[in-house]
Amino acid sequence: MAIDMSAFWFLLFLVPCVQLQGTNTKPTWPNYKVPVIVPESTTGLEKPHFDAAPRLDVSGSCGPDCHKHFPTPTFGELKENMAYETLYSNGSRTLTEVGIYVVASKARTENGAGKSRRKRQIYGHDTRFNIYGKNFLLNYPFSTSVKLSTGCTGTLVAEKHVLTAAHCIHDGKSYVKGAQKLRVGFLKPKVKDGGKGGNRTYPGASDKMKFQWIRVKRTHVPKGWIKGNANDIGMDYDYALLELKKPHKRQFMMIGVSPTGRQLPNHRIHFSGFDNDRPGNLVYRFCEVKDETYDLLYQQCDAQPGASGSGVYVRMWRRDKQKWERKIIGIFSGHQWVDRNGDKQDFNVAVRITPLKYAQICFWIKGNYIDCQDG
Ligand SMILES: *[C@@H]1O[C@H](CO)[C@@H](O)[C@H](O)[C@H]1NC(C)=O
Ligand SMILES: *[C@@H]1O[C@H](CO)[C@@H](O)[C@H](O)[C@H]1NC(C)=O
Repeated sequence: MAIDMSAFWFLLFLVPCVQLQGTNTKPTWPNYKVPVIVPESTTGLEKPHFDAAPRLDVSGSCGPDCHKHFPTPTFGELKENMAYETLYSNGSRTLTEVGIYVVASKARTENGAGKSRRKRQIYGHDTRFNIYGKNFLLNYPFSTSVKLSTGCTGTLVAEKHVLTAAHCIHDGKSYVKGAQKLRVGFLKPKVKDGGKGGNRTYPGASDKMKFQWIRVKRTHVPKGWIKGNANDIGMDYDYALLELKKPHKRQFMMIGVSPTGRQLPNHRIHFSGFDNDRPGNLVYRFCEVKDETYDLLYQQCDAQPGASGSGVYVRMWRRDKQKWERKIIGIFSGHQWVDRNGDKQDFNVAVRITPLKYAQICFWIKGNYIDCQDG
C-alpha cells in the first residue's frame, strides 16, 4: 500500500487533538478524527478447543514507565494487531484482516504519575458502593452493566452489543471454557411472590433481583490480544465485543475516544461491575487517573476480579448537542504490580479506547465506517 509512514505517524500521534477553547469551564468532549478501519479479507479457521480456564483478572508487571519504553508499533504491526477473530455460537471461527486508511489526530500522553499507596486492589478504605434497589439498578447508567456467564462484567454499547475485556473470552492462547455457550446476564426484579410488598426494614433486600440471560451470537477479539502468549503488551488489546442473539431493549451507553486523564472532569473515571467478593451486587466506584500511556489508563479504583470487562465512563459536555453525555472511554482490564525504582507499586489498569480502537469497535457495531467518523 502506498502510504507515507512518517506522515502517518506524525498525524496519528503527534498532532494535538483539536481542543475546543470554550468560554466556559465545562469539561467538553474533544473532537477526534477517527481513522477508517475496514475488513480486507476473511478466512475460516479451524474450530477452537475452548480449553483455557476462565480468569477473572489479568495481572502484569509492566507498568506505565515500562510501557512508555516500548517502541511505537510499525504500521504493519498495527494492522496485525487490529486484525480480529470472530467466534460464532456454532463454534466456527474466522480471521479478518483489516485495512487502515485515514489518519486521526490524537494528543500525546504525558507523565502524570502521582504518589501512590502500596496496597492491593482495594486502596485504603474500600470506596466502592453497592447499588441497591431496582430504581437504581434498572435505570441508566447502572442498567447498562451486564454479567457474562464466564464471570466478568460487560457494558451495553448498542441495541445488540456488549463491550467487555478480551480475557473474559480468550486467554491469549485459547478460548476459555464457556466461551462457545457465552451468555449475558441482565439484572431483573424477581417476580413478587403473592404481592407481599416490600421489606420496609431492609429496602435493599426487598428488591430481589435475578439475572435473565441472553445468548451471544458472535464475539470479536482483536489479534493484538491473541498472540499465542499472554504478554504484557497484550493488555493494550484486552477488549472484545459481543453480539447478542436478540436486542436487549435497554438504554445503552455510547463509546467514545478516550481523552487524556487531565481532560477528564476532576481527572476521574467511573465504572460499575459485578465484583466477585460481593456476589449478586452491582458495585459502583470512581477514582482519579494516576498515569496513562497511549493505550492504558492507570488508576487505583477499588476493584476485584469480576469487575473486569466493565466499561469505564465519564460524563462531559457535548458542545454540538448542547448537553451532558456519558460515554465509555475504556475497559477495566486488571491489576498490575509495577516496580518503580525498586519501589513496588500497584495499579488497576483500563484499556483506553484510542481512535483506532474506536474505529474498529464502531465498525463491529455498525458494520460500516461512515457512521464511525466522530469519536
Ligand atoms: C456457523 O455460523 C456461521 C455464521 O452464521 C456460518 O457462516 C458458518 O457456516 C456456520 N458453520 C457451521 C459449521 O455450521
Ligand atoms: C426483611 O429482610 C430481612 C433481611 O433479609 C429479614 O430478616 C426480614 O425477615 C424481612 N422482613 C420481612 C417482613 O419480610
